[in-house]
Amino acid sequence: MDFISIKKAMKQGSGDVAIRGWCYRARGSSKLRFIILRDSTDIIQCVVEKEKVSEQSWTGAEKTDIEASAEVIGEIVPDARAPTGFEIKVKDFNLIGQSVGWPIQKDQSTELLADLKHLWLRSRYMTSILKIRSTVFGAINEYFRKEGFYEFQSPIFQATQAEGGSTLFPVAYFGKTVYLAQTWQLYAEPAIFSLEKIYCIAPSFRAEKSKTSRHLTEYWHAEMEVAWANFEDIQNHGEALIKHVVRKVLTCNKEELRLLNRDTKILETVANAPFYRMTYSDALRVLNEKCSIEIEWGKDLRTIEEDELSKLYNNFIIVTHYPKLVKAFYMKEDDANADVVHGCDFIAPECYGEVIGGSERESDLDKLKARLIEMGENPEHYNFYLDTRRYGSVPHAGFGMGVERLIAWICKLENIKDAIPFPRTMIRTTP
Ligand code: 4AD
Ligand code: MG
Repeated sequence: MDFISIKKAMKQGSGDVAIRGWCYRARGSSKLRFIILRDSTDIIQCVVEKEKVSEQSWTGAEKTDIEASAEVIGEIVPDARAPTGFEIKVKDFNLIGQSVGWPIQKDQSTELLADLKHLWLRSRYMTSILKIRSTVFGAINEYFRKEGFYEFQSPIFQATQAEGGSTLFPVAYFGKTVYLAQTWQLYAEPAIFSLEKIYCIAPSFRAEKSKTSRHLTEYWHAEMEVAWANFEDIQNHGEALIKHVVRKVLTCNKEELRLLNRDTKILETVANAPFYRMTYSDALRVLNEKCSIEIEWGKDLRTIEEDELSKLYNNFIIVTHYPKLVKAFYMKEDDANADVVHGCDFIAPECYGEVIGGSERESDLDKLKARLIEMGENPEHYNFYLDTRRYGSVPHAGFGMGVERLIAWICKLENIKDAIPFPRTMIRTTP
């Protein structure tokens, strides 16, 4: 008999089936055992009666404890009392791998679950998140490809910073120091002269010394760069991308969202209603008027201010025209006001912070050099990058999206660490 998934077996709903998986729960007596088996698709109750199976089957079933693996052949029947509405009356039970003393009990601390993440991945909670994560990655690829983007890869070992020296990870490299990529951007900009519209999803690294619920040291970064695009074009792309991803999750992951107790109303709103857009100066005004928070013009928005802002709206907010001094060197200066740049942050609803950071790029070679010097950098080290402005420079723009930030919000996770299977933070590098 061919093994089928638990979901498929339940769809079949009657007759004999062969399934295999891991023990989710087990209980019983000396004559009868109820073993709930799970696979990647669902769970199902299997009933083993000593009288009705071989001695080998019964011994196997008796030894089956939480997370042991087994193959089961039996008749599937509807049963309203069973956890998923069906039950398998077992004819043959084959214990494959025993599991003795499974270390995860009920009500375990977050810390212990993090230490046991390699095992905790098997939980329905983590399995649901991982399925949504898979949908999100697929949807990002799908969005960019349907919009005519090429996938383009950049190096992870890089010789310079792009997003500020304070979060660089140095790597000893044959007697020199190089850094792990904070972004693909400085290599993506040269590539648009070849491909015009490009994207990638790759790991980025930030030496974040903060222990917050939204910072990882290694995260997956979905980035895009477009020749001839202006500031508004990339805001539109960012909005359309998030809408596409959320719609995809809403259609493909109903069951997972339900298991995570995610209220989908706000996901529907994000998928369908336009995002809010406001300038940094407007954001300061709103924070002052509605939240009595006073921020001096020129200071970056901190987490608490982004959170207060997000509580006022039930959708993403695109904040634009930030002060030049709080943003990266490559952002384009506004023609009408040299103090602000064409840079934007997408602030997620429900206090999930910045999910996308993007900008139109400065095309003026001298301004770029001046900004680098201001930041204490030697423009010589950026020569390859500055060549993009020397040979046929064009207006262009792009953004980067933190994939785990988006997943954390979609699933409404307490901490970004559950949005990635094996999180890396300042204090965690294992498992
Ligand atoms: O705003 P950032 O620093 O922008 C860039 O890196 C640009 N070069 C992107 C571009 O224009 N191509 O980072 C982009 C996004 C942030 O909005 C955030 O979602 C995510 O990356 N991010 C992090 N996610 C998890 N942990 C961290 N430590 C992150 N730092 C940034
Ligand atoms: Mg940013």
